[in-house]
Amino acid sequence: MKVLGLVGSARRFGNSEVAVREALLGVEEAGGKTELLRLTDYEIKPCTGCMRCVFKVEECPVKDDTAFLLDKIAQADGLILGVPNYILGAAGILKMLADRAMKLMFVEPRPTLGKPAAAIVPFGVDGWEGFAMAQVSIFLLSLGYRVVDQFMIRCQGPGEAVLDDMAMRRCREAGKRVVVGERSPYLSGVCPVCHNNIFEIVDLRVRCPVCDIYGHIIVEDGRLSIKFDDPADNRWTEENMAKHFERNMLPSVERYISLKGQIKEKLVKYRKK
Ligand SMILES: Cc1cc2nc3c(=O)[nH]c(=O)nc-3n(C[C@H](O)[C@H](O)[C@H](O)COP(=O)(O)O)c2cc1C
Repeated sequence: MKVLGLVGSARRFGNSEVAVREALLGVEEAGGKTELLRLTDYEIKPCTGCMRCVFKVEECPVKDDTAFLLDKIAQADGLILGVPNYILGAAGILKMLADRAMKLMFVEPRPTLGKPAAAIVPFGVDGWEGFAMAQVSIFLLSLGYRVVDQFMIRCQGPGEAVLDDMAMRRCREAGKRVVVGERSPYLSGVCPVCHNNIFEIVDLRVRCPVCDIYGHIIVEDGRLSIKFDDPADNRWTEENMAKHFERNMLPSVERYISLKGQIKEKLVKYRKK
């Protein structure tokens, strides 16, 4: 089994890299092969939104290192992702890659579907965790990965994480879990799908914006909890992803073709300036 470690921090031997390296040691201990790539060593240009990769199943016209990275991701049997928390979110390089990875979401056969993954997000300050892990979940779940563990580790200076024995143990365990495909019992979090604790209130119901599942708050034995209506019917199932593609994305092609003339006409006033 070949496991790819991806580091989303420009800090060489920073906390994300230390966490991923420790997890990869766990992979090797469990008999797997490893490779580590630092995303920041590669050029990842923005997605131009041409949709050619999914509508025409053509090569991306943007020339940079993304095709190489996506190929590495597709070829690996499992993934360990380490990305730092930057300003309450995952470091931007992950989003740059995520936007360019859309073909792995929709074009059959999906190469990462059902493969095991683990994610580690270093952060610096309690209370400043924000949405970073939710963003990492979106990346992994959109590619169809089966997340065996995900957690945040508190560490600030570059490489400090290596001094945190407990965090290092969990990283190593996460690596082993990716090889054996076994979920961590510590994978908690209130959402039963993405295991994050970020919710919206919509019409007095609770919604996980990552997974698009609804529930309501209940009181059980004097404790508040959320009862979800149907977590199995979340946005990431193969069926719902296919429906999204057919019902929401594909029709936009015909619609755009029919409106193109009108749009061009109305755009003239901007082009003159
Ligand atoms: C630009 C920037 C923004 C950051 N924003 C946050 C933040 O919002 N919340 C937080 O807890 N830590 C934040 N941190 C701290 C990092 O998450 C922390 O230092 C982490 O260990 C860095 O991991 P690395 O060594 O892999 O880069 C920030 C660090 C930088 C450089």
